[in-house]
Amino acid sequence: MAIVALYGSPRRRGNTARLLEAAVTGARETGAEVREFVLRDLKISPCLEIYACERGGEGGCAIKDDFQQVAEALLGAGATMLASPIFFYAVSAQVKALMDRCQSLWVKKYWIDAKPLGRLDNPKPGLFLSVGATRGKNLFTGAELSVKYFFDTFNTRLWRTLAYRGLDRADEILQHPEYLEEARRAGMELAGKVVS
Ligand SMILES: Cc1cc2nc3c(=O)[nH]c(=O)nc-3n(C[C@H](O)[C@H](O)[C@H](O)COP(=O)(O)O)c2cc1C
Repeated sequence: MAIVALYGSPRRRGNTARLLEAAVTGARETGAEVREFVLRDLKISPCLEIYACERGGEGGCAIKDDFQQVAEALLGAGATMLASPIFFYAVSAQVKALMDRCQSLWVKKYWIDAKPLGRLDNPKPGLFLSVGATRGKNLFTGAELSVKYFFDTFNTRLWRTLAYRGLDRADEILQHPEYLEEARRAGMELAGKVVS
């Protein structure tokens, strides 16, 4: 089972991208297969609340765009890594669009299949990597909650969050090789927990 890695920043070579690259490297060092998606390069509309997903059947979401390939990968993954910068105490718009489209997975799980709310059966592990410029105590609280419930829609438990404060310019993370090393190690550890 592959690990899915989601690059959520609009910056290709920014802080969270470098963190995720380190985690992907760590996972690959153990021999794990990793499938990467750069969300800024994909066409993923926001959720339009059509609720065609409520009728079930093939396809789930009525909007046909790059969401389907990402959703399929997430549902089939053995583990997930997500990287997002903090934008106004939340995830990036690219990540939020994907999250909201996963309402179709939520509807399938909790309305159509009628699972008890919050139910995770043999959950897969999820790693969340984040960076913010400031140093507030609650800097990552909102984003982490969103990620927790986003992961739930594809039977994934938030296993670990690595979040770093005080990084703003694109390559500031390079001044902290210890953060990149922590991400690499987390990627290795995650690979050891992949659910098949
Ligand atoms: C639209 C926008 C909103 C932001 N909002 C916050 C914020 O609420 N708190 C914060 O600490 N940093 C905020 N930042 C700074 C980013 O989190 C910071 O630059 C981060 O290093 C970006 O990561 P990246 O290089 O992976 O994109 C914001 C940046 C942008 C562009």
